[in-house]
Amino acid sequence: MTPDPAPLYAAHLAVMQQRAETALERGGFDHLVIPSGTVHYQLFDDRDYPYAVNPQFKAWAPLTRNPGSWLVVTPGRRPKLVYLQPFDYWHVVPDAPSGYWAEHFELVVIRKPEEASRHLPADAARCAILGEAQSALGQYGAFKPNNPQPVLDHLDYHRAFKTPYEIAMLRQATLRGVRGHRAAERAFRAGASEFGIHLAYCQAAGQDSAELPYSNIVALNAHGAVLHYTERDRVPPRPLRSFLIDAGASFGGYACDITRTHAADTDGEFQRMIDAVDAVQQRLSAAFAPGRDYRELHLQAHLELSGVLHEFGILTMSAESAVESGVSAKFFPHGLGHGIGLQVHDVAGFAESERGGTIARPEGHPYLRLTRTLAPGMVVTNEPGLYFAELLLDELRQGPHAGAVDWERVDAFRPYGGIRIEDDIVVTEREPLNLTREAFAD
Ligand code: GLY
Ligand code: MN
Ligand code: MN
Repeated sequence: MTPDPAPLYAAHLAVMQQRAETALERGGFDHLVIPSGTVHYQLFDDRDYPYAVNPQFKAWAPLTRNPGSWLVVTPGRRPKLVYLQPFDYWHVVPDAPSGYWAEHFELVVIRKPEEASRHLPADAARCAILGEAQSALGQYGAFKPNNPQPVLDHLDYHRAFKTPYEIAMLRQATLRGVRGHRAAERAFRAGASEFGIHLAYCQAAGQDSAELPYSNIVALNAHGAVLHYTERDRVPPRPLRSFLIDAGASFGGYACDITRTHAADTDGEFQRMIDAVDAVQQRLSAAFAPGRDYRELHLQAHLELSGVLHEFGILTMSAESAVESGVSAKFFPHGLGHGIGLQVHDVAGFAESERGGTIARPEGHPYLRLTRTLAPGMVVTNEPGLYFAELLLDELRQGPHAGAVDWERVDAFRPYGGIRIEDDIVVTEREPLNLTREAFAD
C-alpha cells in the first residue's frame, strides 16, 4: 500500500522550519521570503509559457499552479502564505486554499499581485528573498529576490535528504509514471508510432506536457541512441525493432524519472542485451548504500557496462582498459544518475557541505550530475545505458582504439539505438528502497 502523504506533512513542515532557521542564521537575516514566481511571455507575443513554480516555494506546500503568491517564514512563528486568488474572468483562478497543508499556515488571500507587499515583512533588507528577478515587487523594488548564497547553500544541501512526507509524494508520482509506462509498452507492442505511444502514456498517467516533470523521450529503433530524443514521429518505422521510453510523472510538485527499454523480438539478441544491462542496473541498485561515493558507483557502472560490451563481442579489449582509455564513454556517454525530488534533476548534486563548496566530477566524465556520498534519505536515480550513437561511434572509429571494436557487431546493433534502464532509489540505513520496481511490482 502506498502511504498517504497527508499525515506526514506536519513533520515535514517542522523539518523545513528548522532548516530555514539555520539558513537565516547563516545569512544573517530575520525572514525567509519566497515568491511562487510569475508567468513568462514569449517575446513580442501575448502567449505565455507554461508556468513553472519556484521550487523553493513548492518545497513548503504542494502548490504548483499559484503564480503571484508569497511565503514568509520567520523563526518562532507560524509560516505565512500570501495567496493570490485574482479577479480574472479569462482563466480559471486557483481555488481558495484548502487541503491538509492549509491549517499550518497563517493565510492571507489577495486579489491583485501588488497587494502582496503589504503583507510581507516591513524591512525588506532583513529578508532573504529566494526567487527569480521577475518576481520583484514593491516600490523601488523593495522585494527583489537577493538569493543569498549562504541561505541557498544550506537549504539546497539539505534538500537532498527527503522527509517521509516527500518519499510518500515520490511514491505517488511513481505510481502515475508506472501506469503510463505500462500503457506505453502496450501501445508499442500494438505497433503505434512514437506520437501515438506518447499519447497513450499521457492518457494513462493522466498528465500532459504542461504537468509532466520533463519532456517524454519516446524513441523507436535507432532514435533510442539520441539521449534526449523528443521528436515523436507520427508514423511508426518498419521493421519495428526496439523502444526506449524515458518518461516521468508529477505529484504535488514531486517528480519521478523512469526509463525502460523493450525489444520487439523478445527472443532476440537485443533482448538479451537489455537483460544484461538490467542485471548491471540491479547490481548497482543494491550498492546504493550510505557511505557510497556516487562517483565510484558511476565508475563501477562503466566497468560493468564494458563487461556487457565485451560479452556481446562488441569490444575486444578488457572492461578495465575500456574504462581507462575512455572507450566506455563512447557507449555510455552520460552520468549514472542524479538526485530527484522537487526537480527531476534536483539541486546540489555537487554540494560539498551545507556551507558550500563543490565536489568535482571525475576527470573524463563531464556529464555526471551527482558527486556526493550517499546517505539515508537521499533519493537518486540509477540509469546506466548503452547506446549506438553515430557521432560517438565515428569518433571511436577515427581514434586510436578503433581496433578494439568489432565493427560488424556494432553494425548489427546500430538499428536498435540504445538501452537505458532507470529507477529512482531511496537510500536507507538498511536495504535501498527502489521506488520504481516497487510500483511496477504493485
Ligand atoms: N529524464 C532525464 C534523465 O533521465 O535524467
Ligand atoms: Mn534521470
Ligand atoms: Mn530519465
